[in-house]
Amino acid sequence: MHPDKPFSQACENNKQPILAILQQVFIEPATILEIGSGTGQHAVHFATHLPHLRWQPSDHPANYQLCQSWLDYAKLPNIANPIALDVSQQPWPVPDFDGAFSANTAHIMAWPVPKG
Ligand SMILES: C[S@@+](CC[C@H](N)C(=O)[O-])C[C@H]1O[C@@H](n2cnc3c(N)ncnc32)[C@H](O)[C@@H]1O
Repeated sequence: MHPDKPFSQACENNKQPILAILQQVFIEPATILEIGSGTGQHAVHFATHLPHLRWQPSDHPANYQLCQSWLDYAKLPNIANPIALDVSQQPWPVPDFDGAFSANTAHIMAWPVPKG
């Protein structure tokens, strides 16, 4: 357990089945933008097991630093510093990316935010 860091039981429960899919989808080296990174548990797990990816965490400006303690703990060379991204903003203030990942986010956003 990691009592000093934010913790999501859902992340712990679903990170392995999601990784099994990502290993089939993200085969080539790429930069992946994660939308709504939350605690950062997914970022650390996926970047650990998919070292050919550069993982770019992001979250709403009010929440994007929540993942920092997990990133500091993991010290992975393939995770970038988290960036503030409210997906309802246009344009998105993010660097170039090749693919995107998001878990457990769209359904909590008011319509039409997920459309954006
Ligand atoms: C239920 S949490 C899921 C976090 C993480 N992906 C996970 O699976 O545990 C929903 C996340 O969506 C983020 N979020 C909500 N509205 C957002 C928006 N407009 N733009 C970006 N992220 C948003 C929240 O800050 C929160 O981190």
